[in-house]
Amino acid sequence: MLDNDLPEIDWDKMTFSYQKTDRMYVAHCKQGGEWETGTMQDFGDISISPAAGVLNYGQGLFEGMKAQRADDGSIVLFRPERNAKRMQEGAKRLGIPPVPEEMFLDAVRQAVLENLRWVPPMGKGALYVRPLLMGSGAILGVAPAPSYRFLVYVSPVGPYFKGGMKPIALKISDEFHRAAPGGSGGVKAIGNYAPGMVPSKMAKEEGYAEIIYLDAVHHRYIEEVGAANFFCVKDGVVSTPELTGTILPGVTRASVLEIADELGYEVREEKVDVGYAMSADECFCAGTAAVISPIGSIRFGDKVYEFGDEVGPVTQKLYDELTAVQQRRIPDERGWTVSVE
Ligand code: PLP
Ligand code: COI
Repeated sequence: MLDNDLPEIDWDKMTFSYQKTDRMYVAHCKQGGEWETGTMQDFGDISISPAAGVLNYGQGLFEGMKAQRADDGSIVLFRPERNAKRMQEGAKRLGIPPVPEEMFLDAVRQAVLENLRWVPPMGKGALYVRPLLMGSGAILGVAPAPSYRFLVYVSPVGPYFKGGMKPIALKISDEFHRAAPGGSGGVKAIGNYAPGMVPSKMAKEEGYAEIIYLDAVHHRYIEEVGAANFFCVKDGVVSTPELTGTILPGVTRASVLEIADELGYEVREEKVDVGYAMSADECFCAGTAAVISPIGSIRFGDKVYEFGDEVGPVTQKLYDELTAVQQRRIPDERGWTVSVE
């Protein structure tokens, strides 16, 4: 593969959408066995039994991370060991043999290295890396599949929300919930995502960028924004919903909390009452795909709370610091970036 054999892409017009690339990583494991070392293959369709556990019962997980061109010319991943660990937690929850951390990281590294020409120029997006772990063996009863597959493919992406740092309008759902206590909301189970598609589509048809989910028990505490974590800032205090098992423990979330603390803000992980959020000075959401996306307004029932058309100062500071570390535009003193080589 030649790095200079560049694809015909207008890097300035990229959105968060699927783009076929060159190569992918594939590995296999039997239930109760060890993962065999995977191999790189040409990207393409995979063959799977119609009775596969993942197709019938959703026994599957995914991860999402970005490889980006950094200021020093290298290609870097952001805290990839956290994604490896989160996938292991998910695997335990879904009865899947966990992929060893080293194997996960090696698979991601290979998938990036064999698709180098798809890594966008610095600041013009990223190569989104999508690890998938699934019950691929055939099973009819509702039980863990007899065999598993671990894949890693990649796709170049632009901003997740249109306009990047342009504040988005969100709507709080009073009808749908994402996760319930004891369920799978705290891991990246594939089955967590399909139930959000119709609510999200409905919100988009009404002109909102996404939905904000409330907790399923009290219907009053904010949980997440579609596929990103929620933050609000009030009187210099940065708050985010505490992890109770129904919220995905985001890598970006953890990083924003650390950065905010180091920048001198009071940081709280707590129940975030919808009333509190709607009286905040600034709100934003954070995730690998979303990075930090400012929230301009929130609708709840017949009330709309406007935060303004401008990006709030705290949101901007956190965004600047996070993206500077991610692209190595400032020294990475925390050791968060990992060169792919
Ligand atoms: N919440 C959900 C439901 C997600 O799917 C994601 C994306 O991974 C996030 C939050 C943000 O997590 P991270 O920052 O690790 O990408
Ligand atoms: C991510 O931020 O990586 C996500 O998982 C978001 C989404 C595309 C599901």
